[in-house]
Amino acid sequence: MEPVFISCRTMNELRIQKIRPMSEADLDAVLIIEQASFPSPWKREHFQHEISAPHSFPFIAEFDGIIVGYVCLMSLFEEAQILDIAVAPGQRGRGVARLLMDYAMVVAREKEAEVLALEVRASNVAAITLYERCGFVRTGIRCKYYEGVDDAVLMEKDLR
Ligand SMILES: CC(C)(COP(=O)(O)OP(=O)(O)OC[C@H]1O[C@@H](n2cnc3c(N)ncnc32)[C@H](O)[C@@H]1OP(=O)(O)O)[C@@H](O)C(=O)NCCC(=O)NCCS
Repeated sequence: MEPVFISCRTMNELRIQKIRPMSEADLDAVLIIEQASFPSPWKREHFQHEISAPHSFPFIAEFDGIIVGYVCLMSLFEEAQILDIAVAPGQRGRGVARLLMDYAMVVAREKEAEVLALEVRASNVAAITLYERCGFVRTGIRCKYYEGVDDAVLMEKDLR
């Protein structure tokens, strides 16, 4: 899959952002963001699996050659899922996650998915706001899903 270049205005400068497939060489940078973003972060093997699995499509976003975020999409038959998304703490609030989500939705449609689903910690206001802005709706709750304590909110977007 060819990288996509997007010009965007951030912090009063025009910078070039690129979204491209994640590779093994990206994993040191990806793991730093992952560990800074989640209480139970994915390990290297999780990302290696996503890079090699036939129905998985992990992408990274770069600003000026620096990895600032990533999204892991899985798409199989009519249903796709967002398995993981994170942006480096210092790069949040600049639209990076929105670009990654928009790109994941384009790829999911290309793979002929009809629904894009995900689950998110009920207390994660930033992520729930992101998903609502992307057109996701709440479809259910999984009680005490995270560490046996926090509920998960199930969300979906109709891609048809
Ligand atoms: C959730 C996360 C990916 C958002 O990344 P981001 O690049 O800062 O998000 P964006 O700048 O693209 O913002 C997208 C939308 O979400 C909203 N949003 C982002 N952070 C928010 C916050 N802290 N509080 C409320 N809304 C927020 C923005 O207002 C924006 O909406 P808008 O376009 O209408 O203004 C980022 O906070 C993160 O990496 N968190 C840790 C990992 C995580 O929780 N991942 C989700 C797992 S389900």
